[in-house]
Amino acid sequence: MFYIHIFLLLLVQYSYGDVSQRVFPEGFKFGVATAAYQIEGAWNEDGKSENIWDHATHENPEWIDGKTNADVTCDSYHKFKEDVKLMKDLGVNFYRFSISWTRVLPDAVEGSKLNEKGVAYYNNLIDELIANGIEPYVTIFHWDTPQSLETHGGWLNDTIIDNYVYYARQLFISYGDRVKKWITFNEPQQICEQGYETAQKAPFLKLHGVGDYQCFHNVVRAHGKIYRIYDKEFRPVQGGEIGITADAVYAFPKTNSVSDQMAAEQFIEFYYGWFIHPIMIGNYPPIVIERVDELSKQEGRVTSRLPKFTEEEIDMIKGSSDFLGLNHYTTILATFGDPDSFPNPSHDRDCGVLTSRDPSWKPSAAPWLYEVPTGFYHLLLWIKEHYNNPRVIITETGWAGSGEELDDPDRVQYIRNYLSELLKAIYDDGCNVIGYTIWSLMDNFEWTYGYTNKFGLTYIDFEDPNRTRIPRTSYKVYQKIISTRRLISD
Ligand SMILES: *[C@@H]1O[C@H](CO)[C@@H](O)[C@H](O)[C@H]1NC(C)=O
Ligand SMILES: *[C@@H]1O[C@H](CO)[C@@H](O)[C@H](O)[C@H]1NC(C)=O
Repeated sequence: MFYIHIFLLLLVQYSYGDVSQRVFPEGFKFGVATAAYQIEGAWNEDGKSENIWDHATHENPEWIDGKTNADVTCDSYHKFKEDVKLMKDLGVNFYRFSISWTRVLPDAVEGSKLNEKGVAYYNNLIDELIANGIEPYVTIFHWDTPQSLETHGGWLNDTIIDNYVYYARQLFISYGDRVKKWITFNEPQQICEQGYETAQKAPFLKLHGVGDYQCFHNVVRAHGKIYRIYDKEFRPVQGGEIGITADAVYAFPKTNSVSDQMAAEQFIEFYYGWFIHPIMIGNYPPIVIERVDELSKQEGRVTSRLPKFTEEEIDMIKGSSDFLGLNHYTTILATFGDPDSFPNPSHDRDCGVLTSRDPSWKPSAAPWLYEVPTGFYHLLLWIKEHYNNPRVIITETGWAGSGEELDDPDRVQYIRNYLSELLKAIYDDGCNVIGYTIWSLMDNFEWTYGYTNKFGLTYIDFEDPNRTRIPRTSYKVYQKIISTRRLISD
């Protein structure tokens, strides 16, 4: 491992000289990302109803670092014009933001009434973006399930599919004349696993090895259904594109052994293929079906914990993404673990892989995030090889700091190193990556980490009633990368 790392290091060093001469391809787009609950605030203003994060942070503040919440957060509900100005100065081509379901449809269910003021907020934001030459990329659902649906099981209850489809349809009707890039869901894995399996995120349910599969089965069917509706009813008139964003952690084998290589592949199939295989190839990955079915049998269950698609559903879901949205931050080392080392049952046990980090990897302020640029490169190759080189948009990537610093060399280095690997994947290997998005435009409410993990190109003092946005060094570096379209050093 040690020698491999020296070798990789040399390779990386060597390639930088080369890469900095490279120009991002024509048509390649740069953006920044946020999400409604994390930045908007105004949690109960102008008719908005409660979502699962409002509910959890109010009912159980002790689950969140510093007992904080996003009642106000960046106050973007009132300050969106400042946000747009920041982005205009930054020079981004697009802004990826999400729409709050409970703001536009407070009653959330199929057939319920639109909230005019909520609808107007996004109309104003979209118009302001377009007036400033910034393309809106809209995430339809970014983790903020209406609480009124959660009380009926949320994503565990398949009646949510038609409610989601109704909600998404209202967005196409209201905004589709101007929005040409739609993302149906952000990070289904985190919604389902952290929300319904490990209880690490809202709605904080611990249904190991069962809840996550049920949730995802509904998410991916809702995705397929709304894709077909957009394709048939809206695309002919509106001419936009619609896809999904999944997050992927890359896995290197812990050693060069065949067993560790298999573990790394199995890890990626269980944590990424699980979501993307049904969309790109059809049905769940064979290894996932085989293992969950077998373990379910060993547990004495009559039916598998992994739900089954009908043939019609497989056809509906297969090919249902015009582009692949990819959120990628980090990499792990993989080796097979003793089944007893995992909760039984659990998605981790079904996968059977123990993860660790190489001591040479640089940690960020977020406990899960280490800088591993070569993992990004290898992930892009993995996607190219497994899914026939699809169009990929990097819909999130970024670095967590913890302090109030305006000078952020670690974030700058992370961005430069990851972009360097991205250029390599495009030019040396022909990976079809068409855009790149930094999480995030500004510091914001980082779910259960509250305000302790700072991902912003822009600093915000959350004690300041004004929530003044102050650009960091990384903002200026990204500005220069975008304007020169290359990674020239300062
Ligand atoms: C699923 O949701 C419906 C309402 O949409 C509700 O009537 C039903 O009881 C829910 N099922 C479960 C198991 O919660
Ligand atoms: C608050 O922000 C406004 C502009 O957004 C600015 O004019 C004002 O000086 C700020 N106040 C403080 C105390 O920072």
